[in-house]
Amino acid sequence: MKIDLNLLNKRLTPQIRGIVEGLSAISKRLNIKLYLVGGPVRDLLLKRDAIDLDFLIDSSLDKFLESVESDLDVEIEKTSFLTAKFKFSQFVIDIAQARKEIYLNFGDLPQVSPATLEEDAKRRDFTINSLMLEIKDGCFVELIDYLKGVEDLNRKIIRVIGKNSFYDDSTRIIRALRYEKRFNFTLADDTFEQLKSAISKNVFSTLSVQRLGAEFLRTLKEENITPAIMRLWQLTAGGFLTGDIEITPKMCNLLKKWDKLKKCFELDDLWLISLIIIYKDINLSQFNLIAEALELKKLARRIITDLKSLDLEEFLTSISKRLSKVEIYDRLKSIDTHLIAYFYLISRGKAKTNLRTYIDKISKVKITITGEDILAAGIAEGPHVGSMLEKVLRAKIRGELRNRKDEINYLKTVILD
Ligand code: CTP
Repeated sequence: MKIDLNLLNKRLTPQIRGIVEGLSAISKRLNIKLYLVGGPVRDLLLKRDAIDLDFLIDSSLDKFLESVESDLDVEIEKTSFLTAKFKFSQFVIDIAQARKEIYLNFGDLPQVSPATLEEDAKRRDFTINSLMLEIKDGCFVELIDYLKGVEDLNRKIIRVIGKNSFYDDSTRIIRALRYEKRFNFTLADDTFEQLKSAISKNVFSTLSVQRLGAEFLRTLKEENITPAIMRLWQLTAGGFLTGDIEITPKMCNLLKKWDKLKKCFELDDLWLISLIIIYKDINLSQFNLIAEALELKKLARRIITDLKSLDLEEFLTSISKRLSKVEIYDRLKSIDTHLIAYFYLISRGKAKTNLRTYIDKISKVKITITGEDILAAGIAEGPHVGSMLEKVLRAKIRGELRNRKDEINYLKTVILD
């Protein structure tokens, strides 16, 4: 099928166009060929937004990177042999030199060496990820499709490229299922057979749990994770990462519910709620393995251990009654907001209403005065400064204070107390 490159050029947002033009000017000056490759090309053709931009050049990387650093005033991090990355506004930009990969043993990191564009396409995971767009003077001038990626895109098919691909790198199994569900595509028959065969030969054991965990985490961070997770679990018989974790119909329903709800929550790590749903009841040694695989930060570990040590039923009962705003605040203030979102998801009736009030209103109440204001009023430093601020906050939660003036007047009564 013929692709209208003009249309693709028009689809670029002004910000991405700026990046493409900047890199294109450098490539022209240095007489190096430049391509947009992989995921962003696929997404452009599918009319989806891309956040990570991957570029490829056909020549030595160092010279190109030097110019990028000075022209775009960015800090470049060399990531691995022949690849580098930098951040530019909200985009993460990868620049790589065309390369081929040789896997000496299944699951090892590949040995990488410079290669032709075609070899670079062939080292990739799926045909839909092997497309390249040549850039000249800031515009796409040619779509390079060595492996019929466009045909597979149009037919909505995920097709693996190399016959040992899933053995070389078993994270590609997780990637295949993620793409299948994200785009609502189908795995080509032979790709599906290769994938099942690799799983049956225990191919995940050839990789470190961290590499598998990182790819699993990327799946957890998708918008709609339930179909891909269920498929992964079904194909690995629950044996993925820890072994023997069943996703019950109740958990599946909760995952679906969270997929729908998550857009309404302003949380740093929306994926943590999905993680809690799947792993809430596992034992400590299984949890440690998951924490290690996902390289969970302290906060995430604490959230899950806090939940495990809580009597959930008792807690939900304690908030399942008519409560004033300050009473709700008192019961929830020391609980992490991710856990509150989880409680909201699993609760009903009065508890759910109270949690909603906390999420939408109480947790958003902020006071303008600070410890500095109290010290300026002649109060000595000490823990009582915090208690005073807390009293002002509680009065604001009760609805007694509207603005900074009210807060200062109230503070005066607190000081005199
Ligand atoms: N790639 C690969 N095998 C992997 C990981 C990546 O062949 N195990 C290749 C693919 O061609 C992919 C490119 O490297 O398109 C960039 O990888 P990544 O950023 O992970 O993929 P995206 O396609 O951008 O995927 P996503 O949309 O999920 O970010």
